[in-house]
Amino acid sequence: MKKIGFIGIGKLGLDCAEVMAEKHEVRGYDICPRSSNLVKVCDIDELVNESEWIFIAVPTPHAEGYDGAAPSSHLEPQDFGYDAVIDAIDKINTHARGSKKVVLISTVLPGTTRREFVPRLLTKHQFLYNPYLIAMGSVKWDMVNPEMIMIGTKDGNPNALAGELRELYDTVMQNNPRYEIGTWDECEAIKIFYNTFISAKIGLVNMIQDFAMRIGHINVDTVTHALAQSTMRIMGPKYMTAGMGDAGACHPRDNIALRWLAKEYNIGYDLFDTVMHAREMQAKNLAQFLVDQSRANNLPIVIHGKAYKPDVEYCIGSYSTLVGFYIKQSGLPVVYVDPLADDRNEVVSSVDDPAVFLWAHNRKITYAYTGNQTDTQPYCDIAVGSIIVDPWRQLPNHDDVSVIHYGNTR
Ligand SMILES: NC(=O)c1ccc[n+]([C@@H]2O[C@H](COP(=O)([O-])OP(=O)(O)OC[C@H]3O[C@@H](n4cnc5c(N)ncnc54)[C@H](O)[C@@H]3O)[C@@H](O)[C@H]2O)c1
Repeated sequence: MKKIGFIGIGKLGLDCAEVMAEKHEVRGYDICPRSSNLVKVCDIDELVNESEWIFIAVPTPHAEGYDGAAPSSHLEPQDFGYDAVIDAIDKINTHARGSKKVVLISTVLPGTTRREFVPRLLTKHQFLYNPYLIAMGSVKWDMVNPEMIMIGTKDGNPNALAGELRELYDTVMQNNPRYEIGTWDECEAIKIFYNTFISAKIGLVNMIQDFAMRIGHINVDTVTHALAQSTMRIMGPKYMTAGMGDAGACHPRDNIALRWLAKEYNIGYDLFDTVMHAREMQAKNLAQFLVDQSRANNLPIVIHGKAYKPDVEYCIGSYSTLVGFYIKQSGLPVVYVDPLADDRNEVVSSVDDPAVFLWAHNRKITYAYTGNQTDTQPYCDIAVGSIIVDPWRQLPNHDDVSVIHYGNTR
C-alpha cells in the first residue's frame, strides 16, 4: 500500500483519488471545501508530508470565451493558464520536509513542463507528467480502462521513476493498458494531439454531412461507413509516419478541387485551403532546414527522389519538387537524382562531391502494406562528407556521412 496525495480534487481529481483509495492510503487537498468517504480530505501540510506520491489535478483553464461554446475562431489564440499548477508546486516546495514524487495530470501544452514547472520545483523532488484520457460521465471507469497511460520524464527513460509509477498503476488498472513512456514534452504532445486528432476527424465527417445537405442524393452514413471500413489506408496506422507531404496525381488536386466545391455549395468554410496551406508551409519549413544546412556547411542541395514516390516515374504532384520550389525561392540552386523520374529537368545522373541530400523516397514506408519490405537503394554514390536529411528517420548513422533525422529533436 502506497501513500498518495491529490492536490485538486475536482471533477477529475476526486474520482481518480477515490479509485486509488481502493488499494492505497489517499489524501486530498483542495482550495474549495470537498468531501469523500474514501479519501481523507486534509490540509496541505499533512497532504504533502504524509504522501510519497503527490498527484496534481488542478485546473489549467482557458481564458474567458475560449471554451468553444460560442464562436472563438476570430479571437487571438492564447495558452492555458498555469497559475494553479504553479501554486501547487510552490506549496510542495514550502511544506515538504522530505523528497516527493510529483505527478502532474492536468492538461498543458507541449514544452510547458520543462519551461514552467520543473525549474520551479526544488531539485530534491522528482517530476512526472502523466495526463489522462478521461471523459466526464465515466471518469472512474476510464481511469482503470484507459486506451494508454502516458508517463513523461526528463529523458523518457522507461525504467527508474517511470517504472515506479507504472508499478503503482498496475495495482489499480483493469485492462492491462498500453504504457507510452517518453519525455515530458512527448507526453504533453501525445495528450493534446490525441484530442485534436479527434476534433479534426469530427470536422471531416461533419463536412461530408454539410455537402450531403447541399448536393442531394447523399446519405452521409453511407459515405462515412465506407470510409470507416477502409482499414488499409484511412483507419489504422498507415499514414501515421511523419515525413514528406501528401503527393501524387490525385490527392493534392482533389483537395484543390474541393476548395472549389466548398465555395460552390457555400458550406461556409474551406478546410482544404487549410490542409493545402499546411502542406505548402511544411514543404517550406523542410526547404528552409535544407537551406540552413547547405549554408552552414557550404554544400549544394540534392533531392534524392524526384518522382512523387519510389518505383514510379511520375513527377506529377510531387512533394520533392514542391520542396525544390521553396529552396530556389530562398536563392539556392537544387538538383535531383532519380533514375526513373519522367521530368528530367534539373535531374543529374551522379553527384561527385559532398552535398546535403534530402532522402525523399522511402520504399519500405511507402510499400510496406503490400508486404514488400525492400529498402530504397541509393540512386547515386554519396560522397564522404555529405549530410543526409532523412525525413523518415530510418537511415542509420554512418562514419563518412552524417545523417539527420528530421523530426527527432530528442
Ligand atoms: N475533467 C476531465 O474529464 C478531464 C480529463 C482529462 C484532463 N483534465 C484536466 O485535468 C485538470 C483538472 O480538470 P478538472 O475537470 O478536474 O477541473 P476542476 O475545476 O473540476 O477541478 C480542479 C480542482 O482544483 C481545485 N484547485 C484550483 N486551484 C487550486 C490550487 N491552487 N490548489 C489546490 N486546488 C486547487 C479546484 O477547487 C477544483 O476542485 C485540467 O487541466 C483538465 O484539463 C480533465
